[in-house]
Order: sequence, then C-alpha cells, then structure tokens
Amino acid sequence: MNLADPRTFESDLAEFWRSTRAYNPVYRHEPHGFWVVSRHADVLAVYRDAAHYTSERGNVLVTLLAGGDSASGRMLAVTDGPRHRELRQILQRAFTPSALDRLTRQVRRNTRALIIDAVSRGDCDFAADVASRIPITTVGHLLGVPESDHDFLLTQTKRALSSDDRDSDELESSLARNEILAYFTDLLADRRTTPADDVLTALAATALSAEEIVLNCYSLLIGGDETSRLSMIEAVRALAAHHSQWDLLRNGDVTLLAATDEVLRWSTPAMHFGRTAIADTEISGHAIAAGEIVTLWLSSANRDESVFADPDRFDLRRTPNKHLAFGYGPHYCVGAQLARIEIAELLSALRKYSTGIEVVGEPRRIHSNFLTGYSTLPVRFVPDTAELY
Ligand code: HEM
Repeated sequence: MNLADPRTFESDLAEFWRSTRAYNPVYRHEPHGFWVVSRHADVLAVYRDAAHYTSERGNVLVTLLAGGDSASGRMLAVTDGPRHRELRQILQRAFTPSALDRLTRQVRRNTRALIIDAVSRGDCDFAADVASRIPITTVGHLLGVPESDHDFLLTQTKRALSSDDRDSDELESSLARNEILAYFTDLLADRRTTPADDVLTALAATALSAEEIVLNCYSLLIGGDETSRLSMIEAVRALAAHHSQWDLLRNGDVTLLAATDEVLRWSTPAMHFGRTAIADTEISGHAIAAGEIVTLWLSSANRDESVFADPDRFDLRRTPNKHLAFGYGPHYCVGAQLARIEIAELLSALRKYSTGIEVVGEPRRIHSNFLTGYSTLPVRFVPDTAELY
C-alpha cells in the first residue's frame, strides 16, 4: 500500500487501516522509509511530544519527502517553539469570541441563501453550487478579501492543493501558490494605505514582516478552504446515505454540536499530518531515530475501535467523540471553532429548508495523498415548502 501515491486513496482503505491497527500499528513505509502511525493513542502520544518532534521540516508527506517546507519558521503550521507561540497568539486574535460572532452571522446568512437557492432548484451539484461557496466566503470575510476576488482565490486554492484534477502537477500547484502570495502582497500594501476592519489590517499593525503576514494569510486560506468544503460535501453524502441519521437531525433529536463533531470524525478531510524526529525516541516500542519522518494517520485514528464504539457507523448522537480531525497539541487547528460553525450552520440550514436529500449521480473523488473527499456531488433536495414559500 503506497501511502505516498494519491492513486492509493481512490479505493476505500477502511479494511487496510483496520488490519494495520490490529497487526502492524506502527510500521516503516518502504519505499521512502517514513513511519506510519495508525492508532489513536499513538497519534496522540506523538502530537503531545513536542520535545522529540518538529513541524519545521514539513508537516505533510509532500513537503516532508521533498526535504522541507520553504515557509518553515515563518508560517504557523511549520514553525515551532517560542516563535510558533508568538505567531499563534497574533493569529488567534482573528478568532476572538466577538470576531467569531460576527463571522457566525455572516456564515448563517450566506449558507441559508445558498441552501434556499439549491433546495428551490431541486437538483444541483452540492460541491460546486453550495460547499465551494461557504469557506471561501468565510475566510474571505475574515481576511478582508473583496467579494469580487473570491472566485479567483477559490480557483487558485483548488489548483494549489491538489486535488480536483488527476493530471495536475507540482509546477501547476506552485504557480497557484505564487498567485495567492502575490495577491495577498498586493492586498496588504493596499491595507497599509487604506486600513479596513479586517484581519489583514490588524496584522499590518503587528511586528510581523510583510512576508510573514502574506504567508500566514495564505495558510489561513489554504487551511480554511478545502478542509471545510470537503467535510460539508461528505456531510451531505452521509446524510443522504443514512436515512435514520437524517431523520434524527431533521426532527431535532441530535444537538448540532454532536452532529458537527460526528461529521468531522466521519469525514476526516485531512488524512494525515507528519513530523520529523529531532532526537532518538520510541513509539509503542518501535525505536525512532533522530531525523526520521513520522506520519500520523488521522483517518485511521478516527476509526480506532478501541476509542470509538462501532467506528464505521455514522452516528450523529456519538458522545463523547474524541476525534482527531483537527489534530492535537501545540498545532491544534487554529480555525477549529470557525470550521465547526460552518458545518453546524450547514446542518441547521439543511434541516430547516429540506425534508430529504438524494444523491442523483456518481460523485467524483479528489486526487490527493493528504486530503480526502469529493469534488462533485450531484444531489436532489426535497424542499420544505412550509419554510420556503
Ligand atoms: C492546523 C484540520 C479548518 C487553519 C490544522 C491541523 C489539522 C487541521 C489536523 C493540525 C496540523 C498539524 O498537526 O500539523 C482542519 C480541518 C478543518 C480545518 C479538518 C475543517 C473541517 C480550518 C480553518 C482554518 C484553519 C477554517 C482557518 C480559517 C489552520 C491553521 C493551522 C491548522 C492556520 C496551523 C495551526 C498551527 O500550526 O498552530 N487544521 N482544519 N483550519 N489549521 Fe485547520
């Protein structure tokens, strides 16, 4: 099973991960020589152990295998130690309760409008027509990107990360990344002369260099767009496939909080993250040498039968739900609360305006060894006429 090859993820790996957790939970992946960690407890242990592991040599297979990340030490996700804490404190100011309140209202308005439109039409591609438009609008508002530029950024984000297209290559991705960085460089220059009420203006007033600001805007955009989008698409796919769960949601028999966390566990859009050992250590009795790459498979940890009863059941009432979809430890997703708001608002709008969902065409999988999910999802919504008209 070549976990570095995006094609591996075109088929369902549930059985592979089940037997890996049972018989070979920590193993060296050949070729490449990176370690694969599949159990919830071991993933947690590595995530907690900042003394033995770093993210500064990359945090996903693509950069880890390429020998590092060019934004290391400057972009939050690939910075460690005191600098990471400083950067994180600055970026966390974007997610204060009052900022999140404001974003929640914006997400609610936008999501309801999109769902009303989709439900009224009946048939749509949920991925393109709804899910694509939610995170980009949210992160766009957070950062102060004018709405007229959201489409441009969405296109570049999709090109930069993966994933919709099997034939996309590294050159294409790096061109897209450069487009995004150039975009934020221009927007930052603009905010320095014309301040606005947004995160970019706030960042411009800190001691961060222009380069650091631009890289971290890029990281909020990349971190916040595709992951949330893929979770929302999977939420609708799962709800259409599990009628009893849809009924629970629709009848208000589950809290949006619990349902949202189950959507996150079930979808786990970021399949893995990774670290490099900076000193000799061990994981469950396996010796890990300094310099070795360790990959943490969240998609496996979130189906670990020793933590989740009946893990392959989509169960919106699941509590507790100690999923690792947002990682853990110092690099725990800084946008987790925002992502939860987006998913909860989607579930809330679906149950308000629709009485049923049916998948009416073959969904298309994305192409990536890092993210998982679908780039198209043809669906038919049954409108709740009492709410709509
Ligand atoms: C970090 C997942 C949404 C921005 C992470 C990590 C995970 C993750 C697993 C840890 C990375 C590591 O261990 O190296 C997700 C999922 C999301 C989501 C599943 C949605 C369903 C968001 C949103 C934003 C965001 C909405 C911003 C608007 C970030 C950033 C980091 C991060 C900047 C780096 C944090 C740090 O290194 O301190 N995310 N994320 N993410 N995420 Fe998210």
